[in-house]
Amino acid sequence: MAETGKDIGYAARLLTQGEVVAIPTETVYGLAANALDPGAAARIFEVKERPFFDPLIVHIPGIEAMEKYAAAIPDVAFRLAQAFWPGPLTLLLTKKSLIPDIVTAGLPTVGLRVPGHPLTLELLGAIPFPLAAPSANPFGYISPTSAEHVTQQLGKKIPYIIDGGAAAVGIESTIIGFEGSEAVVYRPGGAAVEDIEKVTGRLRLRVAQWAHPLAPGQLQSHYAPRKPLMLGNLEDLLDMHKHRQVALISFSQKISHPSIVAQWQLSAGGNMREAAWRLFAVMRKADQSPAEIILAEPVPAEGLGHAINDRLLRAAASL
Ligand code: TXA
Ligand code: MG
Repeated sequence: MAETGKDIGYAARLLTQGEVVAIPTETVYGLAANALDPGAAARIFEVKERPFFDPLIVHIPGIEAMEKYAAAIPDVAFRLAQAFWPGPLTLLLTKKSLIPDIVTAGLPTVGLRVPGHPLTLELLGAIPFPLAAPSANPFGYISPTSAEHVTQQLGKKIPYIIDGGAAAVGIESTIIGFEGSEAVVYRPGGAAVEDIEKVTGRLRLRVAQWAHPLAPGQLQSHYAPRKPLMLGNLEDLLDMHKHRQVALISFSQKISHPSIVAQWQLSAGGNMREAAWRLFAVMRKADQSPAEIILAEPVPAEGLGHAINDRLLRAAASL
């Protein structure tokens, strides 16, 4: 069983030996390995049971490291890095050859991010290589937002989990790619599109096509609980499923109905940030509840609401 703690020196030694270690970030916990070592990166795919066509994000200690791993960086990418790092924003940039192909699933671009968590920044400062890290969940399941979530799902397969407490943002990074100098959103996430647009101007979204993966990695089955999750108007859904035992996830409203056996409000006060950091933990509890099905409603489409709705839609789409 994985040990859990805050021993950065021990984690650095394991990673240097080519092992995987779970790391805290402000978005979700990651399953990290040396991004410059193809064998170590392969361990990530093995432990997660993740298909090799799904590329990994590379975590770097600071903006200075960008040019070590990426070439032909557009000016707007530097401005975004300046504005958001450390933070929940991943930039897709032309990769340099020292990033192994297994990390990018053969794509010519690499996703780079400086994570906003003090323990992981300390770790990145203690090792001479960047860390490839996808979310630390088995492929296709809900992302972990605490060390306990990682223990439950991958504890038997990995040696060490750095415990950095509950993830402050709770939803994965926003992924931005570039077409020439134009920025394009590949995945909505913890950095709100409206805030990114203050740097880039109006953004194009490349995210609605997830049913037909446009790049390796844009898979629809991500973030799915094991129980069926239906997304829509809660009153209508309750009416349709009135003979079943229901777990209900609402944005802020409380509903009473005889079918409901468990119920969560993402944020009783209607706070979108709170809703984002509670989302995955609530989905996980709903999955573990005695209910047969999970009913959920979209949240208002503003700020982090886009990212929350994207995750709910993907969870529902995996049926
Ligand atoms: O917040 C996050 O981004 C977390 C933490 C650990 O940093 N990581 C994360 O990784 O969410 P993961 O593997 O669960 O999702 C990364 C996704 C891939 O599935 C893929 O869609 C996209 O990032 N991606 C990575 N590199 C890419 C590339 N070169 N081109 C297109 N998409 C890429
Ligand atoms: Mg993931």
